[in-house]
Amino acid sequence: MDGFGNNLQHPYPLKGSKGASLPPRPTLVFLIALFGLYVCYLSFNQIRMESKHVEENGAQEQDEHVCTRPYVPSEELPYVHFPKPKGYSRAECSCNPVRFFVIVSMQRSGSGWFETLLNSHPNISSNGEIFNRVDRRQNISSIVQTLDKLYDLDWLTSAAKNECTAAFGFKWMLNQGFMDHHDDILSYLNKKGVSVIFLFRKNTLRRLISVLANNYDRDAKQLNGTHKSHVHSEEEAEILAKFKPELDVSTLVSNIRDVEKYMGDCLDSFNTTRRMILYYEDIIRNRNALFQVQEFLGVPVRKLVSRQVKIHTRPLPDLVRNWEDVNSRLNGTEYARFLDGADYVK
Ligand SMILES: *[C@@H]1O[C@H](CO)[C@@H](O)[C@H](O)[C@H]1NC(C)=O
Ligand SMILES: *[C@@H]1O[C@H](CO)[C@@H](O)[C@H](O)[C@H]1NC(C)=O
Ligand SMILES: *[C@@H]1O[C@H](CO)[C@@H](O)[C@H](O)[C@H]1NC(C)=O
Ligand SMILES: *[C@@H]1O[C@H](CO)[C@@H](O)[C@H](O)[C@H]1NC(C)=O
Ligand SMILES: *[C@@H]1O[C@H](CO)[C@@H](O)[C@H](O)[C@H]1NC(C)=O
Repeated sequence: MDGFGNNLQHPYPLKGSKGASLPPRPTLVFLIALFGLYVCYLSFNQIRMESKHVEENGAQEQDEHVCTRPYVPSEELPYVHFPKPKGYSRAECSCNPVRFFVIVSMQRSGSGWFETLLNSHPNISSNGEIFNRVDRRQNISSIVQTLDKLYDLDWLTSAAKNECTAAFGFKWMLNQGFMDHHDDILSYLNKKGVSVIFLFRKNTLRRLISVLANNYDRDAKQLNGTHKSHVHSEEEAEILAKFKPELDVSTLVSNIRDVEKYMGDCLDSFNTTRRMILYYEDIIRNRNALFQVQEFLGVPVRKLVSRQVKIHTRPLPDLVRNWEDVNSRLNGTEYARFLDGADYVK
């Protein structure tokens, strides 16, 4: 034995030469033919797979050829997209990554103002409250359909920018189906790679006052017969702020508690998203908050501006008709901190 099996003894002793006879010739021919066909079939599949592979690689190479994609940290890769809208070409920006985002908020929490700030950035496009229409949030399939269309970047609103949009999103209120379908929406957002900005108001007492005043104006139409939720001049703000609502003291504490729970439940349900939690008060007091938002959205940081003017700028006692009652109801409760919450620093 030389270690390579090259001894004279045949590795597969041909018993056939002596004992068992081979199958009859026609059967043998048939088996060989069958085997041949099988080999052909296998290699054909192989060729098909290879050519598919080549096509994919080719497409990739072509993309890489045209694009030099910017560096994105690996943990952010699922949140970075290169959409191909049907309605227009992304032209020279087709290789710029796009981040999908959603601003999750509640009415009268500064989200309208926040959106105008974002839209003052040339690379951000935030498309308003798309789920204010009931038919778009009727059931989870209409919600998904709406979201798919939106994140294909084929959603054209006045906020739609050009081909160089790098962050594309909209604003979604908790009571617009967001909490009703939270499980399905959570998995959609994570699958689609959507970043979430939660925008809430810390001082829910001030928010409540704003809700009541806005509800009042919906009927009273104080600005020359039109109802406005947001204004662009000090004069308009002054007129709207003249109205002082009266708070129902008997339900005040439970009202505030419900709102706090609603926000807390939302943050819990969506704690596995890529997210940023932002408070209206932070944006007002700390302009760095807006820089952090831009970093979160992956856009070049710049100063953001809005033409909107804040309506309720005065101290709380001037905003409510029955302030004494409100004060004594909340004094001593866990919500007493809202009583001296000045949220406007000029
Ligand atoms: C979902 O709502 C849409 C209307 O918004 C309706 O056309 C559709 O039939 C509904 N689908 C289901 C499964 O209920
Ligand atoms: C932002 O938009 C400008 C043109 O408006 C474009 O040149 C630039 O590449 C865009 N930036 C990003 C990060 O997409
Ligand atoms: C209401 O209309 C009058 C006259 O048209 C105009 O002078 C005034 O500025 C308007 N006020 C507001 C708050 O729009
Ligand atoms: C999210 O919240 C759930 C329940 O509140 C908790 O069990 C889970 O650990 C949280 N996940 C993360 C990533 O914080
Ligand atoms: C809250 O109640 C305490 C005790 O009743 C009182 O001393 C205090 O002045 C009250 N605070 C305010 C802001 O009214």
